[in-house]
Amino acid sequence: MEQFKGQARLPKFAIPKRYELKLKPDLSACKFTGTLEITVDIVGETKFIVLNAADLSIQDASISFRNLSSNKEFWPSEVVLVEQDEILVLGFYDVLPLGDGILTLVFAGTLNDQMKGFYRSTYELNGEKKNMAVTQFEPADARRCFPCWDEPDHKATFKIELEIPYELIALSNMPVIQEKVDGCLKTVTFQESPIMSTYLVAVVIGLFDYVEDFTPDGTPVRVYCQIGKVNQGKFALDVAVKTLDLYKRYFSTPYSLPKLDMIAIPDFAAGAMENYGLVTYRETALLYDDRHSAAANKQRVAIVVAHELAHQWFGNLVTMEWWTHLWLNEGFATWVSYLATDSLFPEWKIWTQFLDQTTEGLRLDGLAESHPIEVEVNHAREIDEIFDSISYMKGASVIRMLQSYLGAESFQRSLALYIKRYACSNAKTDDLWDVLEEESGEPVNMLMSSWTKQQGYPVVYVKINDNMLEFEQSQFLSSGSPGDGQWIVPLTVCFGSYDTRKNLLLRDKFEKLDMGELMGSSNGIASLMETSSSGGCDVNNPKRSWVKLNVDQTGFYRVKYDDELAVRLRLAIEANCLTATDKYGVLDDSYALCMACKQTLSSLFSLMDAYREEHDYTVLSRLISVSSKVAMVAADAIPELSDEIKQFFINLLHSYAGKLGWEPKSGESHLDAMLRGELLTVLAVFGHDVTQAEAVRRFYAFLDDRNTTLLPADTRKAAYVAVMQTVSISNKSGYESLLRVYRETDLSQEKVRVLGSLASCPDPDIVLEVLKFLMSSEVRSQDAIFGLAGINREGRETAWRWLKDNWDHILKTFGSGFLITRFISAIVSPFSSEEKAHEVKEFFASRTMPSIKRTLKQSIERIHINAKWVQSIRNEESLREVVKELAYRKY
Ligand code: BES
Ligand code: ZN
Repeated sequence: MEQFKGQARLPKFAIPKRYELKLKPDLSACKFTGTLEITVDIVGETKFIVLNAADLSIQDASISFRNLSSNKEFWPSEVVLVEQDEILVLGFYDVLPLGDGILTLVFAGTLNDQMKGFYRSTYELNGEKKNMAVTQFEPADARRCFPCWDEPDHKATFKIELEIPYELIALSNMPVIQEKVDGCLKTVTFQESPIMSTYLVAVVIGLFDYVEDFTPDGTPVRVYCQIGKVNQGKFALDVAVKTLDLYKRYFSTPYSLPKLDMIAIPDFAAGAMENYGLVTYRETALLYDDRHSAAANKQRVAIVVAHELAHQWFGNLVTMEWWTHLWLNEGFATWVSYLATDSLFPEWKIWTQFLDQTTEGLRLDGLAESHPIEVEVNHAREIDEIFDSISYMKGASVIRMLQSYLGAESFQRSLALYIKRYACSNAKTDDLWDVLEEESGEPVNMLMSSWTKQQGYPVVYVKINDNMLEFEQSQFLSSGSPGDGQWIVPLTVCFGSYDTRKNLLLRDKFEKLDMGELMGSSNGIASLMETSSSGGCDVNNPKRSWVKLNVDQTGFYRVKYDDELAVRLRLAIEANCLTATDKYGVLDDSYALCMACKQTLSSLFSLMDAYREEHDYTVLSRLISVSSKVAMVAADAIPELSDEIKQFFINLLHSYAGKLGWEPKSGESHLDAMLRGELLTVLAVFGHDVTQAEAVRRFYAFLDDRNTTLLPADTRKAAYVAVMQTVSISNKSGYESLLRVYRETDLSQEKVRVLGSLASCPDPDIVLEVLKFLMSSEVRSQDAIFGLAGINREGRETAWRWLKDNWDHILKTFGSGFLITRFISAIVSPFSSEEKAHEVKEFFASRTMPSIKRTLKQSIERIHINAKWVQSIRNEESLREVVKELAYRKY
């Protein structure tokens, strides 16, 4: 059996076809037992059966082969669970017969508290603490609940039966077909599923309420949640019903199961999980409360629901062949979720907000320690780490890039075809490209391989020379180092107006474009003259002479303009000639180039100054993030200018915040509601005294009356952050009041809001108390990461010391999934000196392991990048004057 050890994939001599699974959980003892009958097709000569299992004890195993004349039963001579490889090897005396056999297994396990496999989650009902039993199998934890061929291409049907206390509700992928009560137990039998992958199997057992609705073609959809919270399920229910109908039309394929349940789970490691027919969610991602949820919470619910339902087609019906193609699932679901959300809520301008996804993708992929979209996976342990911004955000962004290159209609037709062709089967990245290539006639495979098989992305340098635009691509790295990648870049260019536009494929390193010729040939001389006077490019008019590449920011690349073009763009932004997406792109590229020391901080500041009249939510939200990050690095580089820099940012941001005020105006937009919260929060952090004082006043009104209209949900985070700015170890009352809010609410979104504000306190001693609180039994381990997000510059050293002192405990509590990686990235990557990078390396030298390896390298690389940036800022000569002018200037 040695030959089976250390393999990435299971051997293929036995193929599972059908699982009949019986589970009997004991919710109070936190244990379960199970029996399995798996129909397996033995397709190769073998004495062994090798499947996955982990953390289970196997009590009995045998295989029988029945035909009309005989029934042969085989008992294994050895049953070995190889913990390291998470496989179960059954060795038999004789070679097994070919054909279908029934493998019977009896096993037992623990309902763990690790939020994976078959686990327990806790909740309170009428003051009493209760357990529920929940499964989370993706990527590779079905094997912790029952032995199985736990790989996505081993699709089989599942017939599930549960034996549970009669008063509980049991849910699984399929509808219940029978319930038999026997004393205080009942046996619940579910209808057999169509073929599906093991990672999508699900079971939930507990006490719940639900709300129900139906799709236009009659599929029942339910939202389950804790008793007493059903009103909070209605929004998600409505989104789900509409989205199912929309996807049915978009993919030209109906939803494939007889029902859809969605359920909020109090302890849940990810945001949500697309189990076939039984989608599980964190409470924050499913429940929406009219009074106490913010607009951002509402949007999150819609996006998450749309994402998980997209998987019912893209992922569940058509499944990736192996985890290397995980991005097909996640990148696609992410992209489609925006499509659905845009159709349901056009006023949210969600495609503009999509740019935050692209930015996150670009941010991670700007690291040398990034990885290609299609990534090699050699061990189950490595899979968790690829649920990252590359698979999701770069994945979704390159899909958007391709869609905009091919056109929406051709793209949709291809997708429908792809779903039809691979339904109930598995597919690889190339299979999708083939279908798209067939349908569009474009060289999709060649184009996209450059984006999915190599890591990184280009920055396109553009220069103007007479009437020629000259392009040059080279790999962009945030460290500023050169990279040697090359891409096929779908370039788009606009000149002075969105009507004058050119699309071309940049296949090589260099390319040129004759602007005059282009305008002459596309519009004719007469129309050229007309365009130049009515909005087209006009070199004599700075507002009309701008050149913008990556129009609408649909491409996954950055652009660096020469000085001349950069000035023209800045003027165009000031004159409000550009769309929100393009304004966002110019700002974000400029920020990234600045970090990579490819342009000065002064030039970034003058660009930022051009956004002083900006009102668009997404653009301002980006401006806020850029300001926060720059304020942090500048405080390390030039502490003596720190106050002035903050003053400049306050100047930029406070006027629109003043217009929005603290309370919603009647009929105001969803986006203004989100913007209000973000603006007030950042102003509080920068120490804007008017905001600060008003925030604290409103907070205390809220503390007296949680239903006061003085502090609507959208503004609470701002108030909480403001309160934490006033807290110190000698004056803890604000902190204690916030803990009261945390303890007294039963709305998870409120708890998360409080957690996210606590560590923003400037007193490191308080930060230490906050960290201790995060690890206490009052905070579910799923939520501790939100507390880390708020750690600021003043607290980071304390947090790092705390991480070192408590590493063993943190590892024990969070080490079994991807949550642990958040501890590392949140605490380590904000540092900005070479000494710190060294210290971190040294600490982890003896503590590294496969599940944190990638994150650790990435976090250390970020420290180097920050350190280099700090140096370059220190060397910038004219910065002082620029900052003084911007800080003291009146708007
Ligand atoms: N398939 C994932 C859930 C998942 C994540 C399982 C990581 C195992 C490991 C699910 O579809 C998902 O992507 N959820 C996201 C939310 C989504 C809106 C981006 C999540 O959990 O954050
Ligand atoms: Zn997903």
